[in-house]
Amino acid sequence: MQRERIEAAGDEEPGSDGIMAGTVCWEDTQLHLDALRRSVDSALDGFTRLPEDCPPRLREAMRYSLLAEGKRLRPLLVLLAAEACGGRISDALPAACAVEMIHAYSLIHDDLPAMDDDDLRRGRPTCHRQFDEATAILAGDALLTLAFEVLAKHTSPKEKAGECCALLAEAAGPCRLVGGQVDDILAEKGGHSPELLEHIHRRKTGALIEVSLVLGAVLAGADDRRRRAVAEYGRCLGLAFQITDDLLDVEGEEDVVGKRLGKDQDRSKLTFPGLLGIDESRRRAAAAVDQACRAVEGLGADARHLTALARFIAERKR
Ligand code: IPE
Ligand code: IPE
Ligand code: MG
Ligand code: MG
Ligand code: MG
Repeated sequence: MQRERIEAAGDEEPGSDGIMAGTVCWEDTQLHLDALRRSVDSALDGFTRLPEDCPPRLREAMRYSLLAEGKRLRPLLVLLAAEACGGRISDALPAACAVEMIHAYSLIHDDLPAMDDDDLRRGRPTCHRQFDEATAILAGDALLTLAFEVLAKHTSPKEKAGECCALLAEAAGPCRLVGGQVDDILAEKGGHSPELLEHIHRRKTGALIEVSLVLGAVLAGADDRRRRAVAEYGRCLGLAFQITDDLLDVEGEEDVVGKRLGKDQDRSKLTFPGLLGIDESRRRAAAAVDQACRAVEGLGADARHLTALARFIAERKR
């Protein structure tokens, strides 16, 4: 990952002795991810050059948040899963973009005053600070709906498009992402268990990460074994990712992370470091990453980039 390359580990590979993932080292994975990220960014740009009926201010707000410097983790996971299952990148690119649009909408809404009330995102003012609250709400709505338009119109055959839309809707919907966000807000009242915390994280963040892998597998026409393997990888990585997000809020550097830090404690959020401490949180993130890597072991060299990316997640600095 180009930008993280510097911040994550200086010039070193993750892990003190470097990580060899299958037959490929982290440097090769970074180059591969850079190329995939360029394809994603260019496709996102194309999909949001909306016709003139879209009010310019709305288009501007959508593009402001969507095209800002994010890691593009979820679209990369769609594409890596497709590759690991023997599929073509071009077949999975619309789904990759759809997932990033859902992610961007969820960030815009997550930052609103009624939710986490944040003023910094991806190194710049949050959408509602840059524009206004109504525009931010509507830009989120527009990205959420555009995601399904892109997925439905640009995925073939149509049966696959339908299956993908259903999978993504479920992951982004009331029992998964949105449900997790609701419980995250409710849990600010305090007094909760590690089980509830994990349940929230697996839904508010884990669901979209897991479905990214599943979409890649479906679009590649994966058999059940491969689909189950990448789904389990996504399930474990999703949890690890939100634990590391909680950790970065406590011990990250604001100008590297690109978000206001220390906010979780200020808002009495239910988080891993808050409930279990830093060391135990690190252990749990590392264990989840190990479990993710084990899940795709059976896919051999096809999963080498997934393995390398998971190792990176455990050590990320943004
Ligand atoms: C931030 O996600 C919100 C969470 C679900 C933890 P990312 O850390 O992937 O944010 P970007 O896409 O890189 O900005
Ligand atoms: C956000 O979790 C999860 C979603 C946006 C669905 P957080 O609230 O922890 O994310 P950040 O820290 O604001 O990026
Ligand atoms: Mg939140
Ligand atoms: Mg937040
Ligand atoms: Mg957070």
